[in-house]
Amino acid sequence: MKTLFTHIKGLVQVREESSTWLAGEAMSHLPVLENAWLLIENDKIIDYGSMPNLPDKTWDEQIDLSGKFVLPAWVDSHTHLIYAGNREQEFIDRIKGLTYEEIAAKGGGIVNSAKNLQTTSENELYLQAANRLEQVMQMGTGAIEIKSGYGLTLEAELKMLSVIKKLRQQYDLPIKATFLGAHAVPPEYKNNQKAYVDHLINEMLPAVAEQGIANYVDVFCEKNYFSVAETERIIEAAQQYGLPAKIHVNQFYAIGGIAASVKHNARSVDHLEVLTDTDLNALQHTQTMPVALPSCSFFIDIPYTPARKIIDAGLPLAIATDYNPGTTPNGNMNFCLSLACIKMKMTPEEAINAATLNAAYALDLLDTHGSITPGKQANLLITEKIPSYGFLPYSFGQNHIEQVYINGKRL
Ligand code: NIG
Ligand code: FE
Repeated sequence: MKTLFTHIKGLVQVREESSTWLAGEAMSHLPVLENAWLLIENDKIIDYGSMPNLPDKTWDEQIDLSGKFVLPAWVDSHTHLIYAGNREQEFIDRIKGLTYEEIAAKGGGIVNSAKNLQTTSENELYLQAANRLEQVMQMGTGAIEIKSGYGLTLEAELKMLSVIKKLRQQYDLPIKATFLGAHAVPPEYKNNQKAYVDHLINEMLPAVAEQGIANYVDVFCEKNYFSVAETERIIEAAQQYGLPAKIHVNQFYAIGGIAASVKHNARSVDHLEVLTDTDLNALQHTQTMPVALPSCSFFIDIPYTPARKIIDAGLPLAIATDYNPGTTPNGNMNFCLSLACIKMKMTPEEAINAATLNAAYALDLLDTHGSITPGKQANLLITEKIPSYGFLPYSFGQNHIEQVYINGKRL
């Protein structure tokens, strides 16, 4: 089945080759072909060109996209979209003046979600998660990472990972699973954190690895959560099972987690709202992608990741939603793009590169996703008629996504 899209106002992020991330100044270049055609066959991108050079052949289907832009679908490299219920009460508590950390200290936060998830059936969790996944796909997400971490017992963590596996069987977009048993210390281990880390390394990790249902390991490396030394222990243990690390780090405090993560060749370090010069230097000449989560900063009202500092230092940057019940009850990548521009002073070109190519790197999907490149998967988003691609982040709170294709099939 061959589909030809014609009269595309702008074919965005079009690259003959795209095998590396974009760093520093290169992030400000976004290749766009105006008045273009795009050919896909079954699930793959085959060819593209400009309308005056339309090849004289036949197609099964021809679709006119006058006035519309085509982009690679967004890649959301950091979510926690499997959870039970919500944390609306904490939202109210924050309005009344409590901070995220104060709420967590009185038993709210992650352990609150874990208590809820432990007593929710796998089927109910699946239904809630599938609903969220369908919503974000409609908003243009065409590849996603989902973390465990609201189980905090072996049984409940495996339940979460099993839900991810079922989502993967049901939906065509790439779904990467991350084991985040070290998201918070469960109350039973409150006075013996070392015993929980031992349990995680000796029992949980081997069971997760044996089932082959995780692609990465993650740790919430933060004051009052897991120390740098514990983070390193967990990263090293996961490496034995071939699981690279994606680490929550520098959300509230800079405690040295970035240097520790890059030392172990972490695939990404995520959050970075607080970033010292030492942290910035540690990221130089590494394979680790920094990932900013602007809608988390928006929702819990904390500083934004200093994108300018990162990009102007010649580093790459990706953006992701962090969709979760506590700090970002929203998985809309379009809104993240707006925040990246408005609050982090990224240009639309930088933000789109951060949400496509660089995000694909953070999920080891660079060979197959993140750009309009022949041979890559046809995971595309098609906009409504809009004046420019910059209109996407400009008109914040609106999505302007008219159609989404996953593996060449329209949603
Ligand atoms: O990325 N900071 C750690 N984890 C999540 C929040 C988890 C929660 O509050 O439920 C985050 O923001
Ligand atoms: Fe997160």
